[in-house]
Amino acid sequence: MKSVASAPAKVILFGEHFIVYGGKAILCAIDKRITVESEIVNSDTIQIDSDLGSITVSKSEPVDKVDAKFRSVIFIAQKMLKQFNSKSGLKISIRSEIPAGVGLGSSSACCVASAGSIAGLFTRYSKQEILNLALEGERTVFERASGADTASCTFGGIVEYTKQGTKNLDLSPKFQLIIANSKIVHSTSDVVARVKQFKESKSDEFAILCDNESALIEEVLDALEKNNSKEIGEKMTVNQAHLQKIGVSNKTLDLMVQSVKDVSYGAKLTGAGDGGCIIALVDESNLKGTLNALSEHECFVTKIDTVGVEQKLVN
Ligand code: MEV
Repeated sequence: MKSVASAPAKVILFGEHFIVYGGKAILCAIDKRITVESEIVNSDTIQIDSDLGSITVSKSEPVDKVDAKFRSVIFIAQKMLKQFNSKSGLKISIRSEIPAGVGLGSSSACCVASAGSIAGLFTRYSKQEILNLALEGERTVFERASGADTASCTFGGIVEYTKQGTKNLDLSPKFQLIIANSKIVHSTSDVVARVKQFKESKSDEFAILCDNESALIEEVLDALEKNNSKEIGEKMTVNQAHLQKIGVSNKTLDLMVQSVKDVSYGAKLTGAGDGGCIIALVDESNLKGTLNALSEHECFVTKIDTVGVEQKLVN
């Protein structure tokens, strides 16, 4: 018997980085998935085969000695084997449609799908339990992770996230999102560490930006409720300015955002920044024009994933 789980990618509509310091963020799960298949095997090892490579480690391997790209999954596997007193090993296969390292939540989705798949071999976890396990795994690599990405990949839809919990916004938006990839790969933990330095060296400026971002998000929640795409887009452009001020945008991202300024409703980088993707908010009236403006870049129109993590057992 195999346990199969999949989880969607995500974009951060508003609030990245500020969420690490107790703000609110608004995220949207999107229609690209990572799928994890796991099975119990008669061995003393945990084997992972993935698009990023393969690894076989002993069940008792100290997790901090494991290659960072497999560490979270090994942690989740070891934790489940121990919790359910299993004498067996595990074989895990990971397949992804989500480009890695470009702000679309590939590592969070991997942790969520792994938690759902591996736990599913032993028990039936609720989405909240999957999220808790996935976040524990994610934090073995990225200690300061706010949990926002993991929550979005777990619950799907458009969510409002604070460190206290996740609220599904239950919206049927009129807008569509275009994602354009700068193809510059970033390290989320490095960018988050840089923002920490900014906060420490310019604490007053950072505090004002946090307040401005919080106020912006309250206005966005209102605009989302009213389904006012023009206003939501304008606020994205304001959010981009906040992100520029904390130093997580760069010339490429600025130019990409600038190139759709007059044609979309608004645009911003999404995720950690320093590369990765931008999102542009559009509807049918300006979709084509925005795609044309971004034609130099790999871009796609995304659909909202309303399902979040999915699990099943197969023979
Ligand atoms: C990364 O996708 C989002 C950040 O806010 C980090 C986090 O929330 O853990 C930059």
